[in-house]
Amino acid sequence: MIKPNIIAQNSKKVLKQTNFTFLGKRIQGKVRDIYFKDGKRILITTDRISAFDRVLGYIPYKGQVLNQLSAFWFNKTKDIVANHLLEVPHPNVSIVKNAKPYPVEMVVRGYITGVTTTAIWYWYEKGERTIYGIKFPEGLKKNQKLKKPVLTPTTKAEKGAHDEKLTHDEIIKKKLVSPAILRQMEKVALALYKRGNDLLNKRGLILVDTKYEFGEYNGKLVLIDEIHTPDSSRFWVDKSYREKFKKGEEPDNYDKEFFRKWYVAQGYRGDGKPPIMSKDLQIKTAQRYISIYEMIIGKKFKPEKYPLEKNIEKVLKNIYEK
Ligand SMILES: Nc1ncnc2c1ncn2[C@@H]1O[C@H](COP(=O)(O)OP(=O)(O)O)[C@@H](O)[C@H]1O
Ligand SMILES: [Mg+2]
Repeated sequence: MIKPNIIAQNSKKVLKQTNFTFLGKRIQGKVRDIYFKDGKRILITTDRISAFDRVLGYIPYKGQVLNQLSAFWFNKTKDIVANHLLEVPHPNVSIVKNAKPYPVEMVVRGYITGVTTTAIWYWYEKGERTIYGIKFPEGLKKNQKLKKPVLTPTTKAEKGAHDEKLTHDEIIKKKLVSPAILRQMEKVALALYKRGNDLLNKRGLILVDTKYEFGEYNGKLVLIDEIHTPDSSRFWVDKSYREKFKKGEEPDNYDKEFFRKWYVAQGYRGDGKPPIMSKDLQIKTAQRYISIYEMIIGKKFKPEKYPLEKNIEKVLKNIYEK
């Protein structure tokens, strides 16, 4: 593992934001900077970290980890569905097909858990038994494995807003996606979840739940955005899951849940001014992201040299300034 003092040094040089005017129009998501060129999108994954739908700071190496993890998974799943990835010219950069995103986030859940208003446990605990139009049996406990994975789609909220629950029928009624495309999205999302969970099981992890985004490209469905990263998924440790569940304890997680919990412990749940991330939390989070990368890919993480801007610029100028 990269030493804490190296991470601390680089915490001053993190990739916060890019401003490559030679690439033209730029838009900024919570985590990625996006440029448009030759009918493609250039996605630059920065070191921004978000939780509670807000950017809360920067984590060294996070952008590299996310971009490389997604590239790994896009490659592992391309037989299931076409995806947007064309090229990874730099560890933090993906050149992708510019798709027309469908306004629905396809969430797949294998376990009943979570605390936010889109989590199934949140509603089940309140006594609801039909959630997302799906009927759940009596007697489920928090963090229990579901009989089979379920689809719990949400809206793709505008900046600052929170995602809202959707059902299959609502998506059709609101004409967010056509029935044929929706059926395809559902089938593909379940197949991707299975592929992800099967591979992660071999690495000692469980894919608890995850989110996919799809778009239309040349009249066809494509998987876009990111896949099976710690930003879009929950991972639990397989080995201790049963024991912990039986004892009614929280499973050991291998995602960014501890990051959220730090904020909750400071009394922050997404409203008002967020507390400033401690150095210790920043270092531990960087280490967590790197560990997840190594565990999933099964290779040692090769850190890029900080600062990253100059090198990213050079690589992109090479492609676009000829
Ligand atoms: N291939 C693609 N075509 C069109 N839009 C895409 C594609 N890949 C990702 N996106 C969109 O680009 C944005 C990625 O930046 P991100 O920082 O993740 O934004 P957000 O704050 O919306 O999560 C997302 O809004 C995502 O839906
Ligand atoms: Mg995103």
